[in-house]
Amino acid sequence: MTISFTDSQIKVLHSAQEISQRVIEIAQQINNDYKNLDNLVVVGVLKGAFIFTSDLIRALDMNCQVEFIRLSSYEGTKGSDEFRLYDLTLPSLKDKNILIVEDIVDSGRTAKFLLDFFKNQAGVNTVKLASLFDKPCRRLEELKDIKPDYCCFKVDDKFILGYGLDFDQKYRQLPYIGYVEGLF
Ligand code: IMP
Ligand code: MG
Repeated sequence: MTISFTDSQIKVLHSAQEISQRVIEIAQQINNDYKNLDNLVVVGVLKGAFIFTSDLIRALDMNCQVEFIRLSSYEGTKGSDEFRLYDLTLPSLKDKNILIVEDIVDSGRTAKFLLDFFKNQAGVNTVKLASLFDKPCRRLEELKDIKPDYCCFKVDDKFILGYGLDFDQKYRQLPYIGYVEGLF
């Protein structure tokens, strides 16, 4: 059975305007931090970060290479930290400065996996993480030190959707970030 929500069940957490303002602020920090570095590679993590990535790169005032990767964790395994990478057609990352772009850092497992993965690529210069959301209350004890370098919003223990984030593969198209009370 698939679950759908009525419009009135979805409460707005951040409007489209608020998101766009924060994305510009984050882009300004990135512009500043990377102004003396060449070779920026923005790596968007599919699917959840596809809208954030495309808005973020358009607010950057520098050239960047754009790549996407897709990954999923193996579901159903207690405490699973095994990931499967899909669509991994990355070019050489030698001397590159990698900015991973995620939708949300929750338990921290995905972020940890990706940071380790890119730091282990031959010759990589720097690796940082930008995330639309951070949900620190859900971080695993052993991953407490995983923090996005750039983050638009913090969220408490809510399940959020819209602006690329899904619930059961739905609601990614919403231009705002919403949540449904009692879902989580
Ligand atoms: P992790 O637990 O930090 O590894 O996060 C795994 C993934 O769960 C994120 O990249 C999101 O795709 C998804 N996720 C976590 N919390 C939410 C949420 O509130 N809404 C939608 N997706 C979420
Ligand atoms: Mg994700």
